[in-house]
Amino acid sequence: MINNRGGVGKSDLVLRLAEALAKRGRRVGILDLDPQGNLSRRAGWTYNEQAPQVTVSEAVMANRPGTMAQVWTPVRWDVEYASRMQLAPAWLELEDRYAEAGVVGSHLRLAKALHGADEHLDDVLIDCPPSLFHLTQMAMAACDGVLVVTRAEIDSILGAKRVRQFIAEKRAELHADDLEIIGVVVNDYEQGKPRQRQQLASVRRIFGDRVWEPVIARREVIANASNDHVPLEQGKGSQLNQAVAGFELLADTYQKRIA
Ligand SMILES: Nc1ncnc2c1ncn2[C@@H]1O[C@H](COP(=O)(O)OP(=O)(O)O)[C@@H](O)[C@H]1O
Ligand SMILES: [Mg+2]
Repeated sequence: MINNRGGVGKSDLVLRLAEALAKRGRRVGILDLDPQGNLSRRAGWTYNEQAPQVTVSEAVMANRPGTMAQVWTPVRWDVEYASRMQLAPAWLELEDRYAEAGVVGSHLRLAKALHGADEHLDDVLIDCPPSLFHLTQMAMAACDGVLVVTRAEIDSILGAKRVRQFIAEKRAELHADDLEIIGVVVNDYEQGKPRQRQQLASVRRIFGDRVWEPVIARREVIANASNDHVPLEQGKGSQLNQAVAGFELLADTYQKRIA
């Protein structure tokens, strides 16, 4: 999940799409590749300095195949489907991996860490930082496809175009020759605002049939659930059913497109 523009909803989409997939029986890994650790926190995880856990940072630093196997930790939510959700958590220390960007082959370290360490999972969704630099490049070299998230707003649409251009220009150097944008998800959409409608039309013009349905509407319950680090269905606010239904439909699209 990529956009170098922050605040478009990458972390929330990773989490809520993962929930929707887990509900239908898929075993889903959510991998936090943002040193802000927002995904990890929203999934109920906290770093404990007294009993340090192995995180994405150590797995990448190790530069050995399969190290992510020691990082996956269950999502400890009080809902049945959470038993099929595994988190690879991150915290501020992941910033230190940027210092390795100049080391030969370091962009392949995430792929290496995941090698053989994701076979117990049907899907792994990677939450990237708002950047196209080293951490995101490692994700590009590790993943099967890129999902771009954007709002119907100019800065994030430009961000989405930069992602597309970056992939086109750099895929060979990242050893990711087949890398493609498999989908563009429009998030945080405000119905009934003419400017939003215009911008949504330009997203469709720019990305054509790569744009996934449905567009995810702005709903307070989505932000509240993340703020309270609970499953969406335990989020406070109105229009919960509509919010849940949106991610269900997005999971349909995901499954259709990746099939
Ligand atoms: N569809 C939505 N409706 C309401 N709030 C949302 C929605 N998507 C994301 N948010 C909220 O917007 C903020 C930014 O989203 P976040 O997932 O952190 O973006 P990113 O990971 O791209 O920086 C968060 O507070 C998040 O809960
Ligand atoms: Mg984020």
